[in-house]
Amino acid sequence: MYKPSLLFAASEVYPFAKSGGLADVAHSLPRALACEYEVSVVMPLYRFVDREKYAIAALGEAFEIEMGGVEYPVELFGCEYEGLRHIFIYSPLLSEKDFLYGTPEKGYEDNAIRFGIFNYAIVSLLKRRQYAIAHLNDWQSALVPLLLKDEETISTKILYTIHNLAYQGTFEKSALAELGLDEGCFTMEEIEFYAMLSFMKAGIAYADMITTVSPTYAKEILTLEFGCGLDGFLRHHRNKLTGIINGINAEHFSPEHDSALVTPYSDLSGKALNKKAYLREVGLTGAKKPLFVFVGRFTSQKGLDILIESLPKMASTECNIALLGEGEEKYHAALKEIVSKYPNVYLEFGYDERHSHRMYAAADFLLMPSLFEPCGLNQMIAMAYGAMPVVHRVGGLADTVFEYTDFEPLANRGYGVVFTKASAHSFTKAFEQAQTLYKNKRHYNRIIKHNMRCDFSWQESAKAYLSLYAQLLK
Ligand code: ADP
Ligand code: GLC
Repeated sequence: MYKPSLLFAASEVYPFAKSGGLADVAHSLPRALACEYEVSVVMPLYRFVDREKYAIAALGEAFEIEMGGVEYPVELFGCEYEGLRHIFIYSPLLSEKDFLYGTPEKGYEDNAIRFGIFNYAIVSLLKRRQYAIAHLNDWQSALVPLLLKDEETISTKILYTIHNLAYQGTFEKSALAELGLDEGCFTMEEIEFYAMLSFMKAGIAYADMITTVSPTYAKEILTLEFGCGLDGFLRHHRNKLTGIINGINAEHFSPEHDSALVTPYSDLSGKALNKKAYLREVGLTGAKKPLFVFVGRFTSQKGLDILIESLPKMASTECNIALLGEGEEKYHAALKEIVSKYPNVYLEFGYDERHSHRMYAAADFLLMPSLFEPCGLNQMIAMAYGAMPVVHRVGGLADTVFEYTDFEPLANRGYGVVFTKASAHSFTKAFEQAQTLYKNKRHYNRIIKHNMRCDFSWQESAKAYLSLYAQLLK
């Protein structure tokens, strides 16, 4: 069967490099699209990508990118991974850093040039291989449609996905010349953003279509409250904007086949064994008490201020709490202090994929008081593992977690404890509701068993992307 070609570009792809959900999406969505497209995934070849493990080898294609009067060397690498073609862009400035984008406090000074190189390299790939569709993600690849604006030899259609409007790739105006961009595009209608240069605006202005990662977030970003300064601009382009909810990789996040777990499971007795083992592992006691977990970046987006304000009150009740994550220093300090006072709170700093799986398997509840959440994957992973999410009703959380009091056994939707106001007061109330529900074991078990059977895979959402691609190719 003839398949049109698709280049899927992201700055992080699991398992090669990951800082958050984008990497999960860039891993699992392309696989779900491969039924109808010849897919290649392209990302930067960071120095910490394990070339040996994934048999990443040079493709024998090296070239120079001319950007703002400077030549930057680029070399293409590649590998087949789980049946999919992966292309890696190597260029010293882009690749030879210890982190993806910078430290938690600060992005790298030369990020405009680093990701400028990435964008120019993608354009060069599009010229060399003539893809039918380029699917770009977040600010790190958002310049591509601007660079292609006047390229008559390329007919590639472009879909641009916003995963998080809070990270726009804004830089000093001086980056304009460094990126070899014309003064003419430094206007409000194009890439100027409060006297700065914005990568994200280039994607929004010039892509043929724009998506974001949940229907609710697609509406929220048109408002002052969630628009991060781009709401007006997005309203102007709203006719090409759609919200499509993310899925999770049903194989990778399957309690039944999860090699990170002591006892993979498909029922609640198996889950109980994982809870006991996990409590032992981290030195918590009392398997009868509900276990609440938090997994994620310690940033204000994830509701860390609300979490920290609420924790002492929560920890004073009959429960265990385990937290895994890393992020801003001020949150690290505040959490450390709380943990020193409450022996029923366990805290681990760092990024640990396998540990997070054991937490989802052990947990009775997942705490997710995000201030905003474009989609969120944790809540879906938690539900698949039989942990009930306690969430603030925003963005993708509103689209994936329904109020447990409205539980309908036949619906293909997950249920949890939902609160509507982003405050420590509302969050603590929701926490108390969760405690009460947990005591009603029959009801609680019925809901989490239902959640475990729900379909959070890419199946439906991949269809929505395929239908947008089809419209683009018409
Ligand atoms: P975001 O992309 O905003 O960080 P998502 O909910 O979309 O949030 O995705 C987060 C992903 O990263 C999930 O797969 C989650 O389990 C994982 N994750 C986040 N922090 C950690 C951590 N410290 N250790 C392990 N996994 C983590
Ligand atoms: C972003 C968002 C998160 C979303 C992820 C994948 O990092 O913060 O909500 O799930 O992208 O789309």
